[in-house]
Amino acid sequence: MAYILVLNGPNLNLLGRREPEIYGKQTLDDINAGLAARFPCVEFRFVQHNGEGELIGELHASGFDPECLGIVLNAGAYTHYSYAIADAIAAIPAPVVETHISNVHARESFRRESVIAPVCTGTISGFGAESYALAVMAIIDR
Ligand code: DQA
Repeated sequence: MAYILVLNGPNLNLLGRREPEIYGKQTLDDINAGLAARFPCVEFRFVQHNGEGELIGELHASGFDPECLGIVLNAGAYTHYSYAIADAIAAIPAPVVETHISNVHARESFRRESVIAPVCTGTISGFGAESYALAVMAIIDR
């Protein structure tokens, strides 16, 4: 069955407890449950890993799966320096939407650079937990 992979990277398992003034009070489970409720016709796979290699493994596994409609990826801080994740995204045919809860351009200068942006289909940043829903909509609209 066709599905969308929602893939979260390092420290996003701490949502709700981690800097709530920046990332909000919802947990990752809250956000995922909200997506499932809001898009009842969509089959989701929700995955979170702290490790770079595990994230790359997920990108390889779903990225070549013809059933995968697209990948909503919040790569956390790897966004800003992981050429290995950028290479994995470039290697796979599935569309990948770079997604951030916070507005990375309004924060520290190191967050303004994304090494994955050039190989992603597009980027959504700064809409809080709503960023994930906007990324899902971008995949559905394709
Ligand atoms: C983040 C922004 C990144 O800079 C940061 O390292 C994160 C979360 C966001 O969702 O706003 O871990 O990707």
